[in-house]
Amino acid sequence: ALFKKTSKTVGLIVPDITNPFFPELVRAVEDVMNIYDYTVILCNSDEKAEKEREYIEVLKQKYVDGVILTTNQLTPDEVDEWDVPIVVLDRPFHERYPSVVADNYGGARLATRHLYEMGCRRIAHIQGPMHVVNAVERFRGYQDEMMELGIWEQRLVIQGNYQLKQAKEAVMAALTDHEIDGIFAGNDAMAVGALKAVQQCGLTVPDDIAIIGYDGIPLTEMTTPELSTVSQPIYEMGAIAARILIKQIEGKPLEKIHYQLPVQLMVRQSTSRRE
Ligand code: RIB
Repeated sequence: ALFKKTSKTVGLIVPDITNPFFPELVRAVEDVMNIYDYTVILCNSDEKAEKEREYIEVLKQKYVDGVILTTNQLTPDEVDEWDVPIVVLDRPFHERYPSVVADNYGGARLATRHLYEMGCRRIAHIQGPMHVVNAVERFRGYQDEMMELGIWEQRLVIQGNYQLKQAKEAVMAALTDHEIDGIFAGNDAMAVGALKAVQQCGLTVPDDIAIIGYDGIPLTEMTTPELSTVSQPIYEMGAIAARILIKQIEGKPLEKIHYQLPVQLMVRQSTSRRE
């Protein structure tokens, strides 16, 4: 079309804003968008393809100028049909779209090795939902590191869904018939659930079981003991994604299409050295 209707609004589709990883990410996107006079429409997809499809229809009716996607339940071809600039944020999707993600594989290796160095040998992993690429990447990191350390035989994989309550129940169940001395949780919400489960079973963190999470949300500093974690540069990720989207909307060239940001090991009380 000769004239393309613009609205100075963009869509941001996240799985679930009640997961404490997402507020900071959303905030960063909104802050940068506001600088450039764009308004953000927030959509929670609950990890469901159907909801993503419905939202994209709504966003198109509102003539959004672009969309930032942190979920990826749809196929790349489906996303192509939307015909608006897209930026993929946090969860790797198809390489044809610009993306901003953190080093999920490397971060998982760091966490696993840290538990080993703190004296753990039977390290369990609470895995995020398997349809999420991040969760698969973190599992791969755990697996490769455990193999390299020669302790893969002592593995225990607990299926989680990135939510605190489910992780707590899953860890309680696992503790009834497994002996473990370390837990690497695929995100911080699940690490908090694991901490609660371990304590409720009458065990001590870190003396009986050390725990490390993933994300770096503020809640990890509020627990007793404070939780070690692999911190992602959440705000920076959101801010870079917003800038890329604006460049795309304005037809400016991108210096770089795929960003993979480094993560950082934050050692706190929940993994302090074991004797
Ligand atoms: O806690 C939510 C998780 O989902 C985070 O680890 C983030 O990376 C996202 O994909």
